[in-house]
Amino acid sequence: MGGGIIRIPFGTMTITERSKQLVIEALDRGRVSSGRYVREFEKKFAELVGAREAVAVSTGTDADALALAVLYDLGASRGDEVIIPALSFVATGNAVLQAGFTPVFVDVERETLNIDPSKIEAAITPKTRAIMPVHLMGKPAEMDSIKAIAVRHKLLVIEDAAEAHGAVYKGKNAGTLCDMGAFSLYVAHIISTVEGGIITTDNESYAGVLRSLRSHGRACKCESCVLNTASAFCAKRFQFGENADIRFVFERVGFSSKMNELEAAVGLGNLDIYNEILNKRRENLYYLLDKFKAFSQYFMTLSKEPYEEIGPHALPMIIREGSGFTRSDLTAYLEKNGIDTRTLFNSIPTQCQGFAYLGHKMGDFPNAEYIGEQGIHIGVHQDIGRRECDYILDVIEKFISGHTLSKKQ
Ligand SMILES: Cc1ncc(COP(=O)(O)O)c(C=O)c1O
Repeated sequence: MGGGIIRIPFGTMTITERSKQLVIEALDRGRVSSGRYVREFEKKFAELVGAREAVAVSTGTDADALALAVLYDLGASRGDEVIIPALSFVATGNAVLQAGFTPVFVDVERETLNIDPSKIEAAITPKTRAIMPVHLMGKPAEMDSIKAIAVRHKLLVIEDAAEAHGAVYKGKNAGTLCDMGAFSLYVAHIISTVEGGIITTDNESYAGVLRSLRSHGRACKCESCVLNTASAFCAKRFQFGENADIRFVFERVGFSSKMNELEAAVGLGNLDIYNEILNKRRENLYYLLDKFKAFSQYFMTLSKEPYEEIGPHALPMIIREGSGFTRSDLTAYLEKNGIDTRTLFNSIPTQCQGFAYLGHKMGDFPNAEYIGEQGIHIGVHQDIGRRECDYILDVIEKFISGHTLSKKQ
């Protein structure tokens, strides 16, 4: 390929004209805290994913934490255990702690980047309450095996679907595969509200608890009260006495995690072009995955099974042992040629300092640690197309041939 450097940013965000118009309308109306746009966004997101309910919150981390905090309504105690993959964005581990539980880590598979189902049962104890698989890089976790284990041990399964917008497993969308699904709506994710998160579920009583949790644990689960405008029509108001100020009755330990109207306005405009964004990103990802077969001697990446669609979040690449180059060689070359890179996260228990107090040591999670040392990911977003994908492939090919040449000399 001739020509100069092409800039390939890691992420992008498309703000539509409708988003801008809705933001202005909300500002003009003077109602910017959670209201009708948030409700509309929740309804549309639930429809899109195919879940009965969706509850919007401030971040994807809160979506994870609030979904986990529902466990208290089901009899869990503080300090109980939640099983999560050792490799994820650190938010998965943080959310477990923020919800008041203890994270129990299970190593991942190098090929899928996801929790290794064959290692889950050994991590279950009498204190285990839930499994939270992560669909890392949009690759669906092995849900049939995970669900079978959960049923055997009477555990809830909550999907961390932060990166899995558009992912499909055996005909069902990520976020509808188990008890609850938690999505991030942060910039660079396929549907974004700038900052934001949303929990999907078919269980209406979980949704009620989530609405209470996002608003400090308020007693009333009816929408208007949760939105901080105690309504005269609220049945619960009367349950607590005619004069009770329902806004200050708290049933559970809660969070302050409501989405606001401006964020929902951005999200509503984004939903209008969801299919366009998804298709473009999917085309980019699948094209790159296919072409990457030529580099399989040097890199591992994802492969798509016939029963799934990978949510096109980003392209992961893990340098194989014996490749002859280091990750910093690779990232320096890609960055020099305009391609943004991100590392492929860390082993949370052994490569994230905040978790050192749990007492794990390097070597406990070999696959997560290997990916933490040798993995990167790059963008496949809607602002790039075939030309940029070919450019990425060309740069990688040149990098590899440069290295094999220098080794021969
Ligand atoms: C796997 C995973 N879980 C949770 C989160 C947290 O989302 P947020 O950044 O919106 O809090 C992220 C963020 O991208 C993520 O990648």
